[in-house]
Amino acid sequence: MEKFVIGGGKALKGEVRISGAKNAAVAILPAVMLADGPCIIENLPEISDVAAILNVIKTLGAEIRVINKSTVEINPAHINSFVVSKEMANCMRASSYFLGALLGRMNRARVAPPGGCNFGVRPIDQHIKGFEALGAEMSIENGMVEGRAHGLRGASIYLDVVSVGATINIILAAVKAKGLTVIENAAREPHIVDLANFLNSMGADIMGAGTSVIKIRGVDTLKGTSYSIIPDQIEAGTYMAAAVATGGDIMLNNVTPKHLESIIAKMREMGAEITEYDETVRVCMNRRPKKCNIKTLPHPGFPTDMQPQIATVLTVAEGTSIVTEGVWDSRFRYVDQLTLMGADIQVDGKMAVITGVDHLNPAPVKAVDLRAGAAMIIAGLTANGITEIEDIDHIDRGYENIVEKFSALGADIRRVPVIDGRVILKQA
Ligand code: EPZ
Repeated sequence: MEKFVIGGGKALKGEVRISGAKNAAVAILPAVMLADGPCIIENLPEISDVAAILNVIKTLGAEIRVINKSTVEINPAHINSFVVSKEMANCMRASSYFLGALLGRMNRARVAPPGGCNFGVRPIDQHIKGFEALGAEMSIENGMVEGRAHGLRGASIYLDVVSVGATINIILAAVKAKGLTVIENAAREPHIVDLANFLNSMGADIMGAGTSVIKIRGVDTLKGTSYSIIPDQIEAGTYMAAAVATGGDIMLNNVTPKHLESIIAKMREMGAEITEYDETVRVCMNRRPKKCNIKTLPHPGFPTDMQPQIATVLTVAEGTSIVTEGVWDSRFRYVDQLTLMGADIQVDGKMAVITGVDHLNPAPVKAVDLRAGAAMIIAGLTANGITEIEDIDHIDRGYENIVEKFSALGADIRRVPVIDGRVILKQA
């Protein structure tokens, strides 16, 4: 087991290169299963969720050739299985995408229910509704989600709730279905546009990705292609929040400013000076953050995956801020950890009232999920003293080289092994 040990109280300065987007990568890699030939995928982030997805792809019988640390070639021509086991699936949410990809490729799928961060219930009823509309028979047998079809046919599908996963899964099942599929009330996240661009580069016919109405005209074959994943808007937002919280001045390279619009807008409200270039953003903070109200919503609203990080900044802002979680039922589990550090937060259902304090105090805390873990790092960076963070495997699911990247910005952060509860500090 390992911990992060952080010496806080320093302003971040310097440059950070943003990696490929986790939520685009975990959708595009299953989509490769739909191709007739090899695909080269570039700008993959080196994170455990990507490693887990590649493991699933290997067990399905596809050939994987690692070209470099962020590029793989995958040949799905000899896939010989439609099963994704519990052991493979329940560490992450994105395993559910193999339902759409395998139904789309072979009219058959058997996938264990997905795992992922615990935000209360995480149903897949809209995914199932989409597959059934396309003509698949769906069932739960021995704890596995079973899908069978005698060919899929295009359909009109209205999503009862804006769902990233359901939008992605329906696209994967529909790209080779016979006829036209229309998804209404579709999610509009950048990673959905990235998936559609990838599939269209293989010969798919997808229109409207990024809007709430997506039209997919089924094609018979999808050829191999080369594709580079978009930069990660949430990783970028996380480093921006750390700069704002510590009064720093950082340059983020390899970003798409357009994907950061709502994050930039709220940080400007908090008093940050943000300059946008083509593929770079500079964040400079030379004052205590101002209070700010946040409501998370599906894109283009403020992203829910930035909620813990921005709430942590607000714990040391002037005045009282209100954060309303508009996507998940229970995404404030991390607040208990911030309270241990002296934060003043009252949570009532999907709303948190945050009264800014002068500073947080160092304390031993836990990463309760992926983005909450990133928020604990931000909290440790702002507290004067040593903060230790446990359960950091959550963080490694979605942040590439987070210690190296924060260290390059001047942070005092170390990954240390823990044996029998004792931190083993390397001898100097
Ligand atoms: C994706 O999860 C992301 N995960 C999440 O990011 C992100 O928080 C979420 O989208 C919202 O942006 C990946 O992309 C791997 P949803 P997903 O389906 O697809 C309800 C991170 O930090 N719903 O958009 O599971 C659901 O309960 C992770 O990178 C149904 O009711 O989210 C929720 O209230 C954490 N029925 C809302 O829709 C369904 O069938 C949005 O969920 C599906 C969803």
